[in-house]
Amino acid sequence: MNSIRIQGGIALQGKVLIQGSKNAVLPVLAATLLTQECSCIRNCPRITDVHSMVCLLKALGCHVCWQERGIVIDSSRMREGELPQEAVTGMRSSLCLLGALLGRCNEVVMEYPGGCVIGERPIDLHLSALRQMGVEFTEKAGKLRAAAHKLHGAHIRLPFPSVGATENIILAGVMAEGDTVLEGAALEPEIRTLCRFLCCCGAWIDCAGENRLVIHGGRRLYGTDFTVPSDRIVAGTYLFGCIGAGGNVLLEHAPVEEMGAVLETARRMGGHVCVSSEGIYVQAPERPHSLELITAPYPGFPTDLQSVVLAVQAMGDGCSHIRETIFENRFRIVEELEKMGACIERKDSRSVTVRGVRSLHAACVEARELRGGAALVVAGLMAQGESLVRGCSYIYRGYENICRDFRELGARVTSV
Ligand code: EPZ
Repeated sequence: MNSIRIQGGIALQGKVLIQGSKNAVLPVLAATLLTQECSCIRNCPRITDVHSMVCLLKALGCHVCWQERGIVIDSSRMREGELPQEAVTGMRSSLCLLGALLGRCNEVVMEYPGGCVIGERPIDLHLSALRQMGVEFTEKAGKLRAAAHKLHGAHIRLPFPSVGATENIILAGVMAEGDTVLEGAALEPEIRTLCRFLCCCGAWIDCAGENRLVIHGGRRLYGTDFTVPSDRIVAGTYLFGCIGAGGNVLLEHAPVEEMGAVLETARRMGGHVCVSSEGIYVQAPERPHSLELITAPYPGFPTDLQSVVLAVQAMGDGCSHIRETIFENRFRIVEELEKMGACIERKDSRSVTVRGVRSLHAACVEARELRGGAALVVAGLMAQGESLVRGCSYIYRGYENICRDFRELGARVTSV
């Protein structure tokens, strides 16, 4: 069941409950290692990246179990050691274990986290920041060994607001001796969620300024009961899906306060968007309005929704210009969209021009990464006829059940 069959040309109608946030929950799961107690994480999405993280936590000796109310992690009997190879190489998001394990046991040996289709995914910013905190990096049998005789605070300036590097600095900093001042921190909501979780556990973190954090280290952390926010990228995927396929939908529990740039873009595309305590209500325009879109670090437009806007603009009412500033290779779906009749010109490696066509036709297309795969499902909803999206294991890394969700909105979508 690694493909999705879509009967396109049907406007969406109805409401869908938005799942918990993948990019918020992964660093929180890693942070449970710092408490040596039991923590309950509510609204945890059941996605393959979470299952992979759970495998890693169990391999380290944690007791993990899913309950109705969420996932419970007991890290009291964690043993130190190498992370299992098969789990780390396949998943970038385990990189946040680097900071957590350094904070917990001052040493970790792990595979070099792999790059992926969207980019080389270097870790130089992580390494240079952690070195300032007393961490030494060496190579051991082809793996990355990180060890700190004594983890200590530092004054760190990030030249780019890397989300992952910010998370690792926070995870190491709460356990380091002394204070860590981080300038140039990433501002993504997932960072605030991680800080909120750690403060619930007893940490002291000052979100001192626009992008300046002060992490007061050396405090004992305790288990807690924490609820993860809804996933802003999943909500945005369904929001733009409606704008592309037509109709009107309610995205229940969407994290409205984290979606300013997304809602502004949806309105620029002609969507009629209302927010309420229930979530986000959107009514699609007759045809998506073309626009200029540039991705940027938060609070700018999120790179993770660039692909789905590109897919929707394939049927826009004019020429759209899309520029990707975060990852160097996030246009792999262009060739797949062209199979459906899209008219897209690659200006350079970081920008494309999309000339909207009146209709797309169904095709068999290939997902090659998570967000591009979700965008191809949206394109299938827009196209006339029955499309097939293959390689959907990528999509299940971040979407609990994209078929179930779109069916809730009246789409004819089945996994096959
Ligand atoms: C996180 O990735 C997210 N992943 C990504 O979501 C998201 O697209 C990205 O942040 C940006 O918002 C998770 O949270 C698990 P970065 P991360 O470090 O931490 C370069 C999804 O689909 N860079 O902010 O890897 C890097 O190459 C995923 O859910 C360095 O050069 O993002 C990239 O060009 C995809 N050196 C840019 O910075 C470094 O040491 C942004 O990377 C680190 C990063």
